[in-house]
Amino acid sequence: MKLFIDTANIEAIKKINSQGLLDGVTTNPTLVAREKRPTLELIDEICAILGERPVNVELIAEDIAGMIKEAETWSKRHKSLVMKIPMTSDGLVVVKELSSMGIKTNMTLTFSAIQALMAAKAGADYVSPFVGRLDDICAVGMDLIREIMTIYDNYGFATQVIVASIRNPIHVVEAALAGAHISTIPPDVLNKLVKHPLTDIGIVRFKEDCAKIPSS
Ligand code: E4P
Repeated sequence: MKLFIDTANIEAIKKINSQGLLDGVTTNPTLVAREKRPTLELIDEICAILGERPVNVELIAEDIAGMIKEAETWSKRHKSLVMKIPMTSDGLVVVKELSSMGIKTNMTLTFSAIQALMAAKAGADYVSPFVGRLDDICAVGMDLIREIMTIYDNYGFATQVIVASIRNPIHVVEAALAGAHISTIPPDVLNKLVKHPLTDIGIVRFKEDCAKIPSS
């Protein structure tokens, strides 16, 4: 499973990149607003760190022509950019158009298996089901991932599933068990993935025992 980071925070991106774990980045207007810097400046900096790896940016325009124009402008600026398009009827048109233009797309804000089927049929490169937001309203977000994986496997769709709105390490484990292609993970959850209390106890014990070894 590929690991994306779900943030526009440069320091967090650099940290996970230095660990050799980073396969891509997802952003959205909420994440960009948190950084209190212009979108363009941030995306340029993120793309410079990521090189050819995918960086997902959300389209802001609300109509079909506006979204296509915005996507063309972004993709001329950075070839590695993937356009995040909300799952709507117009969004499907935009996905189809951009995909025929060779511009990569991510159908975002997906909350049902049938929406994911539509996204794949329209030609989306990626689909982003939001598991945490489903859990928040007392649905089982991970059930949706399992359903989408089954449907995509049944028909051999090439659309990659990005498990989004991840809230904890269990979400990441379950996404991997479901065979999802990608998990996009916020920095606080990424930091928790490496942690285990027995590792910490083991390090302390080895250090203590090391001090007991005679020097000669
Ligand atoms: C995915 O691309 C989104 O940026 C993100 O996962 C949304 O997560 P949230 O529900 O924590 O806002």
